[in-house]
Amino acid sequence: NSPITTLSLKEMKRNGQRIVMLTAYDYPSAKLADEAGVDMILVGDSLGMVVLGYDSTLPVTLDDMIHHTKAVTRGVKRAFVVTDMPFLTYHGTIEEALRNAGRIMQEGLAKAIKIEGGAELAPLIRRCTQAGIPVVGHIGLTPQSVHQLGGYKVQGKTPEAAQKLMDDALALEEAGVFALVMECVPKQLAEFISRKLSIPTIGIGAGSGCDGQVLVYHDILSYGSDRVPKFVKKYADAGSLIKQAISRYAEEVRSGAFPEDTHTFAISEEALEQLYG
Ligand code: KIV
Ligand code: NA
Repeated sequence: NSPITTLSLKEMKRNGQRIVMLTAYDYPSAKLADEAGVDMILVGDSLGMVVLGYDSTLPVTLDDMIHHTKAVTRGVKRAFVVTDMPFLTYHGTIEEALRNAGRIMQEGLAKAIKIEGGAELAPLIRRCTQAGIPVVGHIGLTPQSVHQLGGYKVQGKTPEAAQKLMDDALALEEAGVFALVMECVPKQLAEFISRKLSIPTIGIGAGSGCDGQVLVYHDILSYGSDRVPKFVKKYADAGSLIKQAISRYAEEVRSGAFPEDTHTFAISEEALEQLYG
């Protein structure tokens, strides 16, 4: 069970082995995902929505991402950890973007970064890979552009939009991304792009024709996430479980049923006598 690398991920695509990716944002979520055998962990900027309570990913800062990446990497032994570059941290100069990506790698100890966008990112991707920073691309629905896109909608439905996604995917591969996330893309298009590329594609709302899948931790566990998109499958109801447990705790504190003697420490009779004099 040796650690996953960019090489083993490429090999998985060649062997037709599906890649499992899940987000995580802190030590316990990362540890559980890693122990469950997830291949790739994404410290997504979905952090802003599912953990920090914002209503988009735009308010998330580079320091937020580094802080949470540090916690995640402490919990991981095998999975390959990728961290999102947040809104506007890779759209200034290439030097500034490199410095930001470098902080994610050096301080957070992530093994790669992920950036949202198409062919326009090629020069940055080249500089990152030259500097030893592996990059994951992200096309289709790119949530950092939600206001530009006019909402969280399926992308690539018209022939022109589909062609644009195809061209972007090829340009990103050519520039050096080692994997590509496709979000909310029609399944036939995602499958077609996946066949055209030699790097692994990771789908989210993109059907089963991708080389791997990614979903958000809180979404598959129903853990406090209220607005859950159509492409999510719930594998547990952690939210209800947690709420029930907390309600029982509250009841028992109020009734005096908790704590019991087994949860309590005692002092010796002798010490007590001295205390009371
Ligand atoms: O931030 C995130 O969680 C993501 C994935 C869902 C792809 O970018
Ligand atoms: Na993201």
